[in-house]
Amino acid sequence: MTVPPPPGPLTPYGLTCELLDEPLGLDEPVPRLSWKLRSSRRGDAQSAYRLTVAPSGTDLRDGRLLWDTGRVSGADTLLIPYDGPPLQSSTRYHWRVTVWDVRGEQTAHADSWFETGLLHRDEWKASWIARDRDAAPPQDPPAVEDRTERTRHLASCPHLRRAFTVDKPLVRARAYVSARGLYELRINGRRVGDAELAPGWTEYRHRVLYQTYDVGDLLRKGGNAIGAVLADGWWSGFVGFDSRRQALHYGDAPQLIVQLLLDFADGSRRWVLSDGDWRERSGPIRHADLLMGEYVDGRRELPGWDEPGYDDHDWTPVAIAGADTSVLRAAPDRPVRVLEELPARTVERRADGRFIVDLGQNMVGRVRLTVRGAPAGRRIRLRHAEILDDGELYVDNLRTAEATDVYVTAGRGVEVFEPRFTFHGFRYVEVTGHPGDLAPEDVTGRVLHSDTPWTGEFACSDETVMRLQSNIRWGQRGNFVSVPTDCPQRDERLGWLADAQVFLPTACRNADVAAFFARWMRDVVDAQHPDGAFPDVVPEVCMTREGAPAWGDGGVIIPWHLYREYGDRRVLERGFPAMKAWVDHVHRDNPDLLWRHRVGNHYGDWLQVGAETPRDLLATAYFARSAELVARAAEVLGAEEDAARYRALRTAVGDAFADAFVDADEGRVAGETQTGYLLALAFGLLPERAVPAAVDRLAADVEARGHHLTTGFVGVALLCPVLAAHGRADLAYALLHQDTYPSWAYSIRHGATTIWERWDGWTEEHGIKPPAMNSFNHYSLGSVGEWLYGGVAGIGQAPGSVAYRELRLAPTIGGRLTWACARQETARGTVECGWALEAGELRLRVVVPPGVDATLTVPTELPDGVSESGVPLPAVDGVDVLERSDRSLTVRLGSGHYDFRAPATGPSSSPSQVLAQDLPTP
Ligand code: BGC
Repeated sequence: MTVPPPPGPLTPYGLTCELLDEPLGLDEPVPRLSWKLRSSRRGDAQSAYRLTVAPSGTDLRDGRLLWDTGRVSGADTLLIPYDGPPLQSSTRYHWRVTVWDVRGEQTAHADSWFETGLLHRDEWKASWIARDRDAAPPQDPPAVEDRTERTRHLASCPHLRRAFTVDKPLVRARAYVSARGLYELRINGRRVGDAELAPGWTEYRHRVLYQTYDVGDLLRKGGNAIGAVLADGWWSGFVGFDSRRQALHYGDAPQLIVQLLLDFADGSRRWVLSDGDWRERSGPIRHADLLMGEYVDGRRELPGWDEPGYDDHDWTPVAIAGADTSVLRAAPDRPVRVLEELPARTVERRADGRFIVDLGQNMVGRVRLTVRGAPAGRRIRLRHAEILDDGELYVDNLRTAEATDVYVTAGRGVEVFEPRFTFHGFRYVEVTGHPGDLAPEDVTGRVLHSDTPWTGEFACSDETVMRLQSNIRWGQRGNFVSVPTDCPQRDERLGWLADAQVFLPTACRNADVAAFFARWMRDVVDAQHPDGAFPDVVPEVCMTREGAPAWGDGGVIIPWHLYREYGDRRVLERGFPAMKAWVDHVHRDNPDLLWRHRVGNHYGDWLQVGAETPRDLLATAYFARSAELVARAAEVLGAEEDAARYRALRTAVGDAFADAFVDADEGRVAGETQTGYLLALAFGLLPERAVPAAVDRLAADVEARGHHLTTGFVGVALLCPVLAAHGRADLAYALLHQDTYPSWAYSIRHGATTIWERWDGWTEEHGIKPPAMNSFNHYSLGSVGEWLYGGVAGIGQAPGSVAYRELRLAPTIGGRLTWACARQETARGTVECGWALEAGELRLRVVVPPGVDATLTVPTELPDGVSESGVPLPAVDGVDVLERSDRSLTVRLGSGHYDFRAPATGPSSSPSQVLAQDLPTP
């Protein structure tokens, strides 16, 4: 099992600016630059770096650099603020990082670029344009049989266009685009970019994002046309469970804003703007709504509408919907994209001519359907569902979301239908009205979600645990759609703060969510009430009370976690006043330090089973936790007075908690629930002497229930980590492997391909839970995913470490597992930790990136028998023995690839049948 490191000296890679690789259209005046490192030399580290920045057209090697740090000593690689002359709008900057290794030798460089968008608000000259509803011809709605109470008021999607001429050679063209609603931009017959559901959902009253596209290749000399299709989206469509449309929250019809920048070879510049010269008409999309679905009449296609030379004389001039561009900001995250496709697994024809398609995976997105040889006017309907009940689609749990798409054929031979401005959560599709046979290859699931690149992998020897990891990842995919949502299918899909905060640690292990969450945090801050209360959901719709305990606290927990995970200090700085205000808001109404007032809709340990954690206990634990994190944030930011103030508050709330809820002599926590014990232990709320007894009580509860959990959304993430941290990894594994109700594996045994909202979403005893609240794709209960990486595989950070600067590698051998392995692409480089039991031997493979220190705890009862790459310890260079006990050996490591072996004895070390050769790479 020798793992050769990639050969080569210290080399930078994975360059990012503002957490994105090669971002186009930034509006941060001081963007921050980062890179990762790799090296095949053990103990390597960066001893110095140099950053150079040059505007487009200037060579990074010549002397006319805009910014040159010179050689800067040190190991910094993360989020280094640009500190050169002010950046210009609409300009591409090339940058280079050069590094020196641990011996002081210059070893390598890497190049990247970023490009600014419109840095100054007054550069927005365009107007918001929209259909002129007074002048537009009366709308011709879908046929009566397709109109429901909810969809009959929806309007068709406006097509907007204008023609323009390019009369000189172009060197560059950019489109800056946004909408209130959703847009798809088109130039000369081609779609611009691949963003879906753009510009995304933000706290629209404060901020609407714009996207920037390089459109140079789409333009040509002579006549050109630019056009856009608009849809209601989150702006004016149905959102959440509020039966009113968004009109009451935001606006009543979609609007577009575009600035097209043309840079000519002769140095001149021209803008094509959205303005009163554009014209509008409705096209094939008779309605499109995120919850209700999309209705497309192929007979109404407007061939050539987005090309020059199209005759638009019968189109209607647009209305100017406004000129206030102060809310526009450059999108600081990657957009939603179609990132995967799923082929249909089976298609079943029913006697009445309907087809039931199974995609084999509960997914989020939509279906692409190919129809062959249908006459014009054939109406094909697609309904979507997560599960079947008695062989038929079960849609009651969608509540008012109709999730129904309709395509009326144009009679054009082969027609391909895919809705553009809606998405559904589904595994099964019912197709009605399809002519002739429907083959599996005619149906494709198009999976869309916010583009958050996968950066982590976990694998192990147990199939059910692997399925759990897969279900967790599908939950993450399906619920990161512009904002982190609770669920993707029913009339909800809201940015619930507790769901987000409990799942965030898992999400960060699986994927790079730094930019995605940093953006959403700005919305969370925007949504804060004047009295300091964060709401339950952001963007704030439907729920307008102050956030509940563990929900509103997301506004404190999330920026802190982002800082620790990615080193993003700015997210902390920007969030800090709001974080303080939240804690002050709780404190103000609860001067006795037990959080009992201003608790919003207090959800307690939401969807717990067979236990009732006292709500004031849960709330007060979170009050202490938030005060603690505000104090820590203050320390990081150098706000000493605040640090002292919130530290004192934390201590006082902790004392109040102990007085009110803890019997320290007995180690008893009020309510005696798993979540109560978990919160008290995880948040450090117990007097030291009470800890062992509290752990015993927690363990006794798990055992008394036959190794079953009772935790809801709030407690579940803590269950395995806390048990394992207190010496009860056996119980953590027992819960992980448990497959009778309630457990993770119970849903898997019954066919789950995503994480369910509730433990009892379906049970043998009661069947499908009543539909009022029963999603089959909610990620909260999947927050155990963090423990797979951090506990099972053992990749963790030292307490004060930021962005994995100091690793604590401590794999947990146990359960039914014979091997497990995780690899994580951290902000500093690749970290890996894998273990395997084989014929009386424990093998550990570890990768530590350059400049990172690690300790590794090798679980073995014979610490003297540990070797690395065949050499017995302690004679291995760069591996120092720190601690030896009768159960483990702890060593300190520098960067490098390592291959340890240790004698394994004891109950968990039975020889593995699985590992014949190398640890499988995840
Ligand atoms: C949502 C949750 C949310 C909860 C609040 C539900 O309707 O789906 O995930 O956190 O309400 O209790």
